[in-house]
Amino acid sequence: MRVIIQDNYEKMSLWAANYIAEKIRNHKEDRPFVLGLPTGSSPIGVYQELIRMNKSGELSFQNVVTFNMDEYLGLPRDNDQSYWYFMHENLFDHIEIPAENINILNGMTDDPEGECARYEEKIASYGGIDLFMGGIGVDGHLAFNEPYTSLSSRTGVRNLTTDTRIVNARFFGNDPEKVPAQALSVGIGTVTDSKEVLVLISGHNKARALAATVEGGVSQKWTCSALQLHNGAIIACDEAACGELTVDTYKYFLDIERAERL
Ligand code: GLP
Repeated sequence: MRVIIQDNYEKMSLWAANYIAEKIRNHKEDRPFVLGLPTGSSPIGVYQELIRMNKSGELSFQNVVTFNMDEYLGLPRDNDQSYWYFMHENLFDHIEIPAENINILNGMTDDPEGECARYEEKIASYGGIDLFMGGIGVDGHLAFNEPYTSLSSRTGVRNLTTDTRIVNARFFGNDPEKVPAQALSVGIGTVTDSKEVLVLISGHNKARALAATVEGGVSQKWTCSALQLHNGAIIACDEAACGELTVDTYKYFLDIERAERL
């Protein structure tokens, strides 16, 4: 696992956006580049930089297919808290990408299991995901894979924990009861099947989760810890998120990634 420690959120975002852009530009295969994407506050800086690159002609999305991580169950697309709405407002409406290349789980489906099975099939039809970018929750959830979701789980329906509904209540009038109780989400296995996984971890409130991801044992309690078994996992984080790492761990990653900082 690589851990890229940047001074702050802005630098973390630029590092991640440049990494993704390089991967898209260097993709020479005779099939689209398949990119997994998250919602939340963590990726907004990355999206802003990708938008800038697209508008300035530095990066094309014509040959990119996207799959989003998750979606609330029961929220229509035009609800401003749906992840469909978030993705269009924060990325897709501002870049030139063919509409048919965008894949987001349908939270209004009347057949959730079928919807999730079809999502997995569609990912497979493209030959899998090249790079899955993600964020994590304060309890270490990756997509909506709450603590004790199987580390080999596939796309499916997830019940949200009380903790996550409380954390996400800030978007729902500060009322946890208004946060949907369920979501559709890719599984941990879906994410770790990707060739590369790039997870953004920013801020003091994620410090415990970063330490669990990097230093703890692989455990269902912290589903993000599954990344330790992935050969192409990268954590991009900021200083604020490093507060719970041991000094040794912190220095170790600065040493081995020094070239990145020069
Ligand atoms: C939600 C999403 C996750 C996201 C997490 C963290 O629960 N389902 O995919 O990673 O929030 O969000 P933020 O980046 O705003 O901290």
